[in-house]
Amino acid sequence: MSKIRKAVFPVAGLGSRFLPATKAQPKEMLPVVDKPLIQYAVEEAVAAGITDMVFITGRNKRAIEDHFDTAYELESELEAANKNALLELVRNVIPKSINCIYIRQSAPLGLGHAVLCARPVIGNDPFAVLLADDFMDTADGVKPVLAQMTDVFQREGHSVLAVQDVPRADTKQYGIVSATAYQPQLELVNAIVEKPQPDVAPSTLAVVGRYVLSNKIFDYLETLGKGAGGEIQLTDGIAALMQAEKVLAYRYDGQRYDCGSKLGYLKAMVAMGLKHPETGAGFTDYLKTLK
Ligand code: UTP
Repeated sequence: MSKIRKAVFPVAGLGSRFLPATKAQPKEMLPVVDKPLIQYAVEEAVAAGITDMVFITGRNKRAIEDHFDTAYELESELEAANKNALLELVRNVIPKSINCIYIRQSAPLGLGHAVLCARPVIGNDPFAVLLADDFMDTADGVKPVLAQMTDVFQREGHSVLAVQDVPRADTKQYGIVSATAYQPQLELVNAIVEKPQPDVAPSTLAVVGRYVLSNKIFDYLETLGKGAGGEIQLTDGIAALMQAEKVLAYRYDGQRYDCGSKLGYLKAMVAMGLKHPETGAGFTDYLKTLK
């Protein structure tokens, strides 16, 4: 089975749940402690062996391109001031061997449309999709979530969706799958539906922002019309793909934080603040003082 070398990062959404913070900057640049969400997602992709990062950008997304590019003025200032540790930090945002490719989605027509915009670059290969606002944390010694999924793909040769159980009241925020047991942590998807109301949701197994997809998905995305919310939905493309090929749902090892929502973002900040070498001890002490 060919190795996954390309990943798509759809970052062209409006981020309306995070206004006004996202009025002039993308939500993917919101930091968790000291790194923007998009950098964590790119690091997760690098850890899975991915070499080509394809960003689907839109208006107000310049900051992402700048973040992964050389910052000449900043670097020469840091160099002149002998601030070598900071200089290294700025220079090593992304390994030199990684290619960053930017494609503009001219209007936010939906996640399925954003993924379709990557087709000319992905060519005939299977590929990963990462939604950077789903921040994935793993315990020490556990592989990052995307690497767990590319392992599954390598072994099984079928598309893999990251899934987790959610409260029934929340099904209307997710793509929900109905699936049958397949292997430990893996289920075979029989149906998938975008944002069903709790009373009609086929299950409470929700798809979260990590996918490894067969290239055939593009043929289906190309012919799709608008789905839930008037958008071209990746979920509908997967529903069509499933008729032709097996699609697997993978219960990943890890903790997801929905950083597209204020509460999820705050939880991620606390979790990472407690772990961070510079802030961990002081933040732990501070939290103990809170009533
Ligand atoms: P969301 O549903 O989180 O939408 O999109 P959003 O616009 O970013 O945020 P809210 O709901 O308005 O607060 C899921 C992912 O798909 C991308 C988003 O950037 C996000 O990573 N997306 C969505 C696109 O790239 N293009 C689109 O047309 C829609």
